[in-house]
Amino acid sequence: MENKTATLSFDDTSIELPMVEGSEGERAVDISKLRGTTGLITLDPGYVNTGACKSAVTFLDGEKGILRHRGYAIDDLADNYSFVEVAWLLIYGNLPSPEETQLFKDLIKKHYEVDDSIKSIIESYPGEAHPMALLASCTVALSGLYEEPEEATDEEVLEIVARLMAKFVGIAAFTYRKSKGKAFIESDSSLDYCENFLNMMYDEDEHDDEMRKIIAKALNRLLIIHADHEQNCSTSTVRIVSSSNVNIYASVASGICALWGPLHGGANQAVMEMLQEINETDEDIESTLARAKDKSDPFRLMGFGHRVYKTYDPRAKIAKASCDEFLEKLHGREDLVETAIQLEAAALADDYFKDRNLYPNVDFYTGIIYRAMGIPTELFTVLFAIGRLPGWLAHLLELRGDPDKKIGRPRQIYTGANEIKL
Ligand code: SDX
Repeated sequence: MENKTATLSFDDTSIELPMVEGSEGERAVDISKLRGTTGLITLDPGYVNTGACKSAVTFLDGEKGILRHRGYAIDDLADNYSFVEVAWLLIYGNLPSPEETQLFKDLIKKHYEVDDSIKSIIESYPGEAHPMALLASCTVALSGLYEEPEEATDEEVLEIVARLMAKFVGIAAFTYRKSKGKAFIESDSSLDYCENFLNMMYDEDEHDDEMRKIIAKALNRLLIIHADHEQNCSTSTVRIVSSSNVNIYASVASGICALWGPLHGGANQAVMEMLQEINETDEDIESTLARAKDKSDPFRLMGFGHRVYKTYDPRAKIAKASCDEFLEKLHGREDLVETAIQLEAAALADDYFKDRNLYPNVDFYTGIIYRAMGIPTELFTVLFAIGRLPGWLAHLLELRGDPDKKIGRPRQIYTGANEIKL
């Protein structure tokens, strides 16, 4: 775009502000010099209209329901690649060669084992703590075990990436085993990523080999559709925390805490609890929708709506298809699927939801698959975190490589008391 500008007029003056255009035609007004030249700032609660950065990792088109990672459509990636390959793509910008894939897999396997000091954190953690609390605590604890070099080389960064991806899986599995009062199952480096996770989660007799393969395939797809989603709440948190030059482990732990919230990654757990409550109370669908629309009721239709998507979330389509395929192989449809399908159909036909462009998001169907895999509801958001980790790391490393990088420090409009003289 030739150097177009936007004109801002106020009081008795007006200024020209430069405009920028992204590779997909998205346009923005660059206000980086606004305060310095006018004394003005902008105000945008929740950053609904504010771009925090330029990024080449993921492209979203919320109106058309497009999601691409480094140019590849999410459907193509979910159908044709492993989660480990997609993680490499997000972080390094290209699909890995067979040699790079093997190198990455071997590096991850090297770190499968859960360190004794991490085990003792899990074992001694307060019993009622949420699994996301353990994941965040253990992730920060890793910074004490594996100090990040000041000027980490590419190889050292790759090692940290592989280590985090491996440790997340072991911490999740050990957290689950502890919650069930079961002995930990050690990792098995002969197994690939998803298979090793399942092996650490479940006793041998819980699934036969065929079923274990079906679950691993479904899990691989689910982790891919969670891998990145541009500047969502948790990724933006990782970026702003990392901008203080703190180590990677602390930055990732901040993303875990942001993802935990029920309006964000915690929604997959909230969807499951919502569907179970509807079934247990035998509440009719219309009453559920009425509660979701009632402004005096804090209840929202969990798994519905999105800050960016104003059409069907492409990941929800993939999750729904996986749900059908997976459950058919397991033992036919789950009662909760029927409730979810009825709820979705009713909401999509309802003017309140249509007028606000509220559609199912990634969290609406994924919980049903996790439940059918035997994963407890309170571990759903940990699964989301395992999937989202490569996205967080891709954005953190992109920020670190940005020559214009600054510490994140928004401004405010003060509304408090004027000076009070004592
Ligand atoms: C994720 O950002 C990402 O990319 C996130 C994510 C990722 O991959 O990182 O995609 C993952 O977090 C998906 C979202 C999961 N959360 C939920 O499913 C929780 C339920 N959804 C809502 O809470 C809500 O839709 C949000 C939080 C997702 C989005 O909220 P926004 O963008 O701030 O929209 P809003 O609250 O301003 O809603 C606009 C209107 C409001 O009504 P009005 O004031 O116009 O009358 O829509 C209503 C809202 O009340 N609304 C809902 C609703 N979501 C929005 N009403 C009922 N049920 C809902 N789910």
